[in-house]
Amino acid sequence: MLKNFWYACEFSAAVTTKPKQVRILNQKLVFYRNAKGQLIALQDRCPHRGAALSLGWVKDDCIHCPYHAWKFQADGKCINIPANQPGIPIPKNARVDSYPIQEKYGLSGYFMETYQKNSVRQSHLCQNLKTQVYRKFSLNTN
Ligand code: FES
Repeated sequence: MLKNFWYACEFSAAVTTKPKQVRILNQKLVFYRNAKGQLIALQDRCPHRGAALSLGWVKDDCIHCPYHAWKFQADGKCINIPANQPGIPIPKNARVDSYPIQEKYGLSGYFMETYQKNSVRQSHLCQNLKTQVYRKFSLNTN
């Protein structure tokens, strides 16, 4: 996998408020939309016991793990552990990776990067995504 590139990996219409697992280049991601229709892309592996978040549910713009219902917000941070007693802090490592994600040409693309997290390179999106779209569909049709 090439790091620091945009990857077109799903049709935009296929991503709804219901979590959807997207596999690309041996990576498992979960895509969903918040109440405003914005796309969210997270690592599809709960940091607690490894359950697939894509089997969970979305409520209040957060995704809930299907196993013990940990609640993750769009930036990947866990903000609720139902089994915790009141006042018990949430561990700092209770989070999943989040990825910048954009829609262009009816496709959803996410940005896999190695560093400079949260620095979305908007200017490169169209060109890189267009290139990836052509590659994906030319590969699929051959
Ligand atoms: S495996 Fe996700 S909350 Fe336990």
